[in-house]
Amino acid sequence: MSSQNIYILGIESSCDDTAASVIHNGKILSNVIASQKIHEEYGGVVPELASRAHQQNIVPVVNQALERAGITKAQLHAVAFTRGPGLMGSLLVGTSFAKSLAYGLNIPLIDVNHMQAHILAHFIDEEGFDKPEFPFLAMTISGGHTQIVKVNSYFNMDVIGETIDDAVGEAYDKSGKVLGLGYPAGPEIDKRAQQGNPKAFQFTKPKVDGLNFSFSGLKTAILYFVKRETDKNPNFVKENLNDICASIQYTIIGILIDKLKLATRETGIKQIAIGGGVSANSGIRQALKDGEQKFGWKTYVPKFEFTTDNAAMIAIVGYLKYLENDFAAHDITASARLKI
Ligand code: KG4
Ligand code: ZN
Repeated sequence: MSSQNIYILGIESSCDDTAASVIHNGKILSNVIASQKIHEEYGGVVPELASRAHQQNIVPVVNQALERAGITKAQLHAVAFTRGPGLMGSLLVGTSFAKSLAYGLNIPLIDVNHMQAHILAHFIDEEGFDKPEFPFLAMTISGGHTQIVKVNSYFNMDVIGETIDDAVGEAYDKSGKVLGLGYPAGPEIDKRAQQGNPKAFQFTKPKVDGLNFSFSGLKTAILYFVKRETDKNPNFVKENLNDICASIQYTIIGILIDKLKLATRETGIKQIAIGGGVSANSGIRQALKDGEQKFGWKTYVPKFEFTTDNAAMIAIVGYLKYLENDFAAHDITASARLKI
């Protein structure tokens, strides 16, 4: 298998990042991403603006991915694209582009599930990063997702827990908005949290049965807390920002770790791989390290550029499916609510 020389182009356009990547066998040659700044002004992704920006970005992004990889279109063996889940208008841009490119080059088309891709990003060949062994638990945490998945093999996965409302990244971003921070607020809350007292303020954790999550109550609790305190002292947020951030972070990490503990108990699996933008968080990384000591976990955090929305993860799934001759028909359509 490895004696073959397989080049696959991966294309990702499910949300607000237009991305393309070339993988050679299991190794990433290029990973290009055009993030859409426009949404910052709105404090969240505006679907109509996102699909328009994808249309503008897709050709230059793909060209750059090929150029940086040092190959031409003619050398590609297949085109992999994100079929879903995501915003329909955004998905359609990547889907139709990938279809016409594969058709024009007369090479196979490979559909990729974005949520599987976040998990399979752990299988990119990258020096200094171990690949998890099956079975393992994958927790995908970002602005759009909060999910715990039992991964039995590459393409046999069971979702065992997910959010019933907001994603964990949204909890960060919406709390940040209440505190007057920029969007996305996760990185700044994380930075300030490291300088604050995590026990300064208490927020109650939501009570959700089993392995599911809920974050919308926390956001409301923080909103009312800040309103109440600023009524008493208009400078409350300014004077206590680091402590507030530390307390929010402490609560959120506590919620995630409690569910992971439960998942390891229920499945008997102690290998945990995390992905998604929130996996950059210093609190979750520390908590996972502590889990290795305390509970005998083995934890995996991928290289940062492969964990936020990116096309390298689409390309690795494309490669794995290529090896299994698992190709898409040319009449395949995007699917906004695609399940794992
Ligand atoms: O994976 P990603 O880039 O895009 C998707 O949402 O799919 O994740 C972005 C999310 C945002 O909500 C952002 O606030 C959060 O990840 N984030 C963080 C950190 N870095 C990014 N949240 C907490 N701590 C961080 N260090
Ligand atoms: Zn994602």
